[in-house]
Amino acid sequence: MEVYSYDEVSSTNDVAKKMINVLRNGDIVWALSQTAGRGKGERRWYSPKGGLWFSVVYKPQKLCEDPNIYTKMASVAVVKILKRMKIKDVGVKWPNDIYHNRDKLGGILTEIFTKSHENVVVIGVGLNVNNMPPEDVKNATSLLKITGVKLSLSQLLKMISAEMQRLYNFVTLRKRNVITNLWRNNMIVKKGHTIKVSDFSGKTYEAKVVKVLSDSLIVERNGIKERIHPSEISI
Ligand code: BTN
Repeated sequence: MEVYSYDEVSSTNDVAKKMINVLRNGDIVWALSQTAGRGKGERRWYSPKGGLWFSVVYKPQKLCEDPNIYTKMASVAVVKILKRMKIKDVGVKWPNDIYHNRDKLGGILTEIFTKSHENVVVIGVGLNVNNMPPEDVKNATSLLKITGVKLSLSQLLKMISAEMQRLYNFVTLRKRNVITNLWRNNMIVKKGHTIKVSDFSGKTYEAKVVKVLSDSLIVERNGIKERIHPSEISI
């Protein structure tokens, strides 16, 4: 496993894609800042110095039938490391967000494609670490904001990428239920929480979480229980 580190790039996902022929399974592209960081839905991802911005490349023989599994395993890896560092109240939110309470701390951007008969999965990880999120960005936070302490980006990268590799092995071993269970257990939303639901029909309402299942949640509203998909949680 090789780490290709840069001072500044457009986007580590884009650099990884350009270098795909030389990159091997598990290789990493890391940059101290990005000028064109991308988020979900082609949104701009603010990536100044101080944050952790990197992409891991996997070249699986066979792609997992659940494409969300790669994003899930990366977000679980980040959350597990943060919890190991005794940072409380962190968790995953469907499908690619990392939250601290109700504030966004980071996100994952996974891109899957085939190049020269090879399956390629590029997992971009963005985590606000020593940077302060801009004042005008609502509900964003960073590890510095939470703890008041600056952290070593290279140490964090080492720990998170090692955990990603460990979890990725479960995917290749066709044990993706291990990841699904970890994902469920590391969800920011827990039993007893009141959450906002934006359901598939476009309705928005508040409900209480009664049960967290591996692929759905049971919520209660006005005494009526309903099953919702994690993507319907809007926090
Ligand atoms: C999101 O929450 O919408 C996903 C954000 C993903 C950001 C990371 S930073 C490293 C990699 N390079 C990018 O351009 N995006 C991802």
